[in-house]
Amino acid sequence: MSDEPVKFLLTERDIPTHWINLLPDLPGEPLPPLNPATKEPAGPGDLTPIFPMGLIQQEVSPEPEVEIPEEVREVYKLWRPTPLYRARRLERALDTPARIYYKYEGVSPAGSHKPNTAVAQAYENAKAGIRKLCTETGAGQWGSALAFACQEFGLECEVFMVGSSYDQKPYRRSMMETWGASVHRSPSDVTEAGRSQASHPTGSLGIAISEAVEIAAQDEGTNYSLGSVLNHVLLHQTVIGQEAIAQLEQAGDEPDVVIGCVGGGSNFAGIAYPFVRRVLRDGARTRFLAAEPAACPTLTRGVYRYDFGDTVGMTPLMPMFTLGHDFVPPPVHAGGLRYHGDAPSLCGLVKAGLVEARAYKQNETFEAAVRFARTEGIIPAPEPAHAIKAVMDEAQAAKDAGDQRVILFGLCGHGNFDLAAYDAYLSGTLEDPEFSEADMEEALGRLPDVPVPA
Ligand SMILES: Cc1ncc(COP(=O)(O)O)c(C=O)c1O
Repeated sequence: MSDEPVKFLLTERDIPTHWINLLPDLPGEPLPPLNPATKEPAGPGDLTPIFPMGLIQQEVSPEPEVEIPEEVREVYKLWRPTPLYRARRLERALDTPARIYYKYEGVSPAGSHKPNTAVAQAYENAKAGIRKLCTETGAGQWGSALAFACQEFGLECEVFMVGSSYDQKPYRRSMMETWGASVHRSPSDVTEAGRSQASHPTGSLGIAISEAVEIAAQDEGTNYSLGSVLNHVLLHQTVIGQEAIAQLEQAGDEPDVVIGCVGGGSNFAGIAYPFVRRVLRDGARTRFLAAEPAACPTLTRGVYRYDFGDTVGMTPLMPMFTLGHDFVPPPVHAGGLRYHGDAPSLCGLVKAGLVEARAYKQNETFEAAVRFARTEGIIPAPEPAHAIKAVMDEAQAAKDAGDQRVILFGLCGHGNFDLAAYDAYLSGTLEDPEFSEADMEEALGRLPDVPVPA
């Protein structure tokens, strides 16, 4: 056996004690969210009907670090720290001089990075005396994560699952129910928002968010919980990048490029923001690459505007790249990436040229995922398959240039519940649904009437 290490491991004592808040390091003043009714800057008071104060404080915190409560770190111990792998077998198969590392979040109970924030959110809500959390789920990963986290802190959990995912992944529903959650197919007939969208039977994240927010807004004991996009969600995910920094130190490497897939931006921020802070503070020269689906190309084809986070228009308006809040993306298997907008901080970094975005078609991402599975063993979720496609392009570019670049990417979840998608790919029936420019233009025509952010 060679003594070349493949896994870089930390102990439970190395679980980060703080989350990293990138906002104070970002250049310029942050653009405020706007109240959806008045279109005036939204304050903490606008969020109290659906979020606990502990999370609102994290959302607007000016502190560069936020302490992780002990109770949350105790639950993190169930799967954190997660392993960092050197993808030696993939490197050999690609015949590349690049050194490829991946941080694997699929070891969590729900199988992805989502429990990093679900646990923190369930804790703050339980502390505030909330009885039930209500949410949406696209891929089923976020709903599973929140169902698990609610169990840990004695909360009820109600989930609106995007119709196309509900049909493709029945065992994600079983998983959520095993952790005690109740699950609706969205659009459902239990909310006004759902009934108003019955003509879109495949659903979308935007529609499911509207349904969950509606339920939470009507009941004092119920709060809403979001699995991406908001500052506090991205904050919670920074345990990923902090651990990766320590693990790469063990490996004696520094990344030249950090790659992640983007649905709303949380796993990307989780792995990248601790490295972005080093670029902003210390002039490190790391590059950052965000991978998204060509069928829902928010960062590469969207417009930079204030828009709602949901379809029906109940959430605050956020400055972001958007395809239009009521744009319904075609039903690709990467359900977690079917979102019309992205986190405002990430959109700001893309706009400033600090993060580069690339869009990939469904078949090419599955081709990359299968190649990864046949070398490294792990079957990736369809979402990080987009990051893997970007990694393979970078590895090829390194080979063409004859340079030994170091690539770090986030393998944010496994695809063990996504085998219907793999079946379709392997049997040659997987489609590459076209992104409709005309549908986007139509949806952009319905953007709220507020000035375009500078
Ligand atoms: C495995 C996986 N990866 C990525 C995403 C996309 O979300 P985000 O961009 O917030 O990481 C999801 C969302 O559901 C997911 O389940």
